[in-house]
Amino acid sequence: MSRPLDPERRRFLRGTGAALLGASALPACSLVTQRGNSSPPERFEGRLVVSTWNFGMAANAAAWSALQSGVPHPVYAAAAGARVPEADPAVTSVGYGGSPNAKGVMELDACVMRGDNLACGGVAGLRGFAHPVSVALDVMDHTPHVLLVGEGAGEFAASRGHEQRDLLSAEAAARYAKWQTKQERPAPIDDHDTIGLITLDNGHFGMAVTTSGWAFKLPGRVGDSPIIGAGGYCDNEAGACVATGTGEEMIRHVAAFAVVEQMRNGLSAKQAAVAVLARIRRNFRARDMNTMVALLAVDTSGGVAGVCTTKNFEFAVHDEDHGGVLHPGEHLAP
Ligand code: GLY
Repeated sequence: MSRPLDPERRRFLRGTGAALLGASALPACSLVTQRGNSSPPERFEGRLVVSTWNFGMAANAAAWSALQSGVPHPVYAAAAGARVPEADPAVTSVGYGGSPNAKGVMELDACVMRGDNLACGGVAGLRGFAHPVSVALDVMDHTPHVLLVGEGAGEFAASRGHEQRDLLSAEAAARYAKWQTKQERPAPIDDHDTIGLITLDNGHFGMAVTTSGWAFKLPGRVGDSPIIGAGGYCDNEAGACVATGTGEEMIRHVAAFAVVEQMRNGLSAKQAAVAVLARIRRNFRARDMNTMVALLAVDTSGGVAGVCTTKNFEFAVHDEDHGGVLHPGEHLAP
């Protein structure tokens, strides 16, 4: 693994960058903290795993074990974590047990990235494979490409011997049948709670994202999750970000990349995530929309931020000092 940026230099840039950007670079927007749960410390030391939503707790535990066992790079630990909700039918927005498209077919999206050399891989609209995140890893490690879609992604997954399975659980089939009986059948816009994981080990970032996407989406619809820069991004020199919520907004704003670039310019994880989230909200409101978008970011100093356009976002953090803890997200003030 190549060397990450010297922490002293990063701290210097963070101070001067934020000062140079000045308050005017940040939208006038305050955050509301949910009560009843603990806020994360200002900064974590050492190894770290963070992920979106409460099902991130079990994913983080698996990612943490993988980190402790000495994987060659933290991206493999992030993927190990992502495989947990992919296999869990109780998670209704990821992998087996996730929601199908408007024709009742499961189409899954995933991506992975490493922060030392920006190697990355993704799959979109993948059908019939248990672990899209593992296929994304193989795209990264065994092809010269970054993103494989649909039939080609499936052929590649089969050629690499990935586990095939029927992904439509009985519960998901029942949800789909109920949706079909409705007179009007808009896809439920806020039903896509992607898992995104960030792993940090000795200055090296890894990232993984996996989802079944927008429930009852148009067949062929691809969200942000497999798209590097939209659903996730990491760079050892700047930080990491993963996104959950309405993927179309993340794609429009190249959201994860935008957050990482703000951190490269010297903003903390929280400042960067709030700046980008406020821009996203301003633009969807200009289209008379309201929707859920959440950004989870980690800066190179171990600062963690989970911010959302709505209430109820949670994120899971696992480190040596605290073990696994679920934290409430902060949301933008109305
Ligand atoms: N964020 C997941 C999706 O929109 O597909």
